[in-house]
Amino acid sequence: MIDVIMELRNDLKEKLNPLRYEHTLSVSFICTALAMRYSYNLDQAELAGLLHDCAKHYGNEEIIKKCRKQDILLTDDELKAPVVLHAKYGAWLAEHKYNVTDQEVLSAMRWHTTGRPNMSLLEKIVFTADYIEPRRERVPDLFNIRSLAFTDLDECVYQILKNTLEYLESKGSFVDSVSNQAYAYYKQVHSDKKGEDISIIDIRNVSVLADYFIIASGTNSSQVQAMVDNVEGELGKKGYVCKQVEGYQTANWILMDYGDIIVHVFDKENRLFYDLERIWRDGKTIDVEQLI
Ligand SMILES: [Fe+2]
Ligand SMILES: [Fe+2]
Repeated sequence: MIDVIMELRNDLKEKLNPLRYEHTLSVSFICTALAMRYSYNLDQAELAGLLHDCAKHYGNEEIIKKCRKQDILLTDDELKAPVVLHAKYGAWLAEHKYNVTDQEVLSAMRWHTTGRPNMSLLEKIVFTADYIEPRRERVPDLFNIRSLAFTDLDECVYQILKNTLEYLESKGSFVDSVSNQAYAYYKQVHSDKKGEDISIIDIRNVSVLADYFIIASGTNSSQVQAMVDNVEGELGKKGYVCKQVEGYQTANWILMDYGDIIVHVFDKENRLFYDLERIWRDGKTIDVEQLI
């Protein structure tokens, strides 16, 4: 693989301007770092990162002509903002000129500018690496986005899409509809993980069941399950093991037993029906800072 990588680097060094080449190297390194973090194949990640901008040196008119020559279908949105076409034509070049046959690599190249709903892991890795690579600057909140890339990739993709769309709208630039669809998708993923009406009750003086209850609600059963998955995933990363989960299948009231802390996640109807805050009103309602 190293021979292929070295050959590609030499080729790209000749074609791309020095800053674009430097960006390309940085993206491929960050792709491998993210691949290590998320247990993805390092070679595929490095290759996708290295080639992602291999068609970036073509101007708008030129790339439209090249796409048409190869019978690559162009959407109305791509014709309105042809800057995104280097991704589509780059994937074609990778397949036909650089002999890349790996569909995951080609797809990650294809979607690296607009993103798309429900991206594969490699698509998210390349999309994110392109935004956070070390040479990137003058991007709002970059410090936090870089950190998020290594802790919650979906949330990171959401923040990148949000920033990018806000930036394009502030400039009055056209936004490809696939980017809007991607944003809507990851906004939903983002909100599905967030609980509503979170309350924490200190029950140490009124029960031996646990020290604290954390109560939250979601709008429907799939959101309730997504919230529980998120709690389990995030606490798991910090070394907290859930002893027992009850009610996951029906998902109108899921109970997660962390020993001293019991997490209750309800749908809205059951939150009102069971009204744990009323039953445990002898406990003390506290805020998150007090719990920490
Ligand atoms: Fe690009
Ligand atoms: Fe790029």
